[in-house]
Amino acid sequence: MVCAINIIIILAILVAVKLALISIFFYSDIRAAQKRDPAAKSFLEIILLYQGLHALIYYRIANALYRVHLFFLARALSQLARLVTGIEIHPGARIGKRFFVDHGMGVVIGETTIIGDDVLLYQGATLGGTGIVKGKRHPTIGNNVVIGAGAKVLGNITIGDNSYIGANAVVVKDVPANSTVVGVPGRITKQDGKKMDVSLDHARILDPIMQTIEELQDRVKDLEKK
Ligand SMILES: CC(C)(COP(=O)(O)OP(=O)(O)OC[C@H]1O[C@@H](n2cnc3c(N)ncnc32)[C@H](O)[C@@H]1OP(=O)(O)O)[C@@H](O)C(=O)NCCC(=O)NCCS
Repeated sequence: MVCAINIIIILAILVAVKLALISIFFYSDIRAAQKRDPAAKSFLEIILLYQGLHALIYYRIANALYRVHLFFLARALSQLARLVTGIEIHPGARIGKRFFVDHGMGVVIGETTIIGDDVLLYQGATLGGTGIVKGKRHPTIGNNVVIGAGAKVLGNITIGDNSYIGANAVVVKDVPANSTVVGVPGRITKQDGKKMDVSLDHARILDPIMQTIEELQDRVKDLEKK
């Protein structure tokens, strides 16, 4: 009986130490989650229940292993993280400070992805490659970027700082800073806070098919007015 109580006390101390270490080493990431998820009620809730934070903790350890060339161990840990959290981050990816994955399930981040500071990803977002080419084949994401649920950002492209990638968008070309991109393939709908007039700004159009459809819609409207 005394032995069982001792074991429980030791386990409780270990859990408390673990929580304290996570709060210290991941303080800024936990704050970022609290700031960016209106549903987050407390630090403890984030530490215990947020898969995005758990995936980041696994990733930081796996990335450290990867950097000392313990590739198999690193990969094994990232696969374990995938099993536990539903979020797959390749240990070779480079991720900045205050990174937050909200909800998380189905997120995939490829090996040569580079992510800046203060980036937010929602569930189902993919930062992937377009084929089987070697070398830098995944995107570079700037600072303070939001990537919506189910969005796919593919290939060695750059998403500029402060940009929003809309839910379910598929982005395969560079996106300048301060842009909002929606649709398949992605097209810029807002830049530097201004709504884009897609039919006038040809240089920034990512999608010629959308452009043609919008021109046709304008023509139909003109004809209907007559
Ligand atoms: C793109 C986004 C950032 C909105 O940006 P915004 O600048 O506020 O854009 P608006 O709401 O003014 O919409 C601009 C246009 O894009 C359209 N649009 C917005 N989001 C879109 C999307 N994901 N896909 C396709 N079109 C979209 C709007 O209907 C609007 O069209 P209109 O100009 O023809 O009326 C936002 O809609 C989005 O997708 N955020 C991701 C959030 C997310 O994934 N949440 C998951 C929570 S669980």
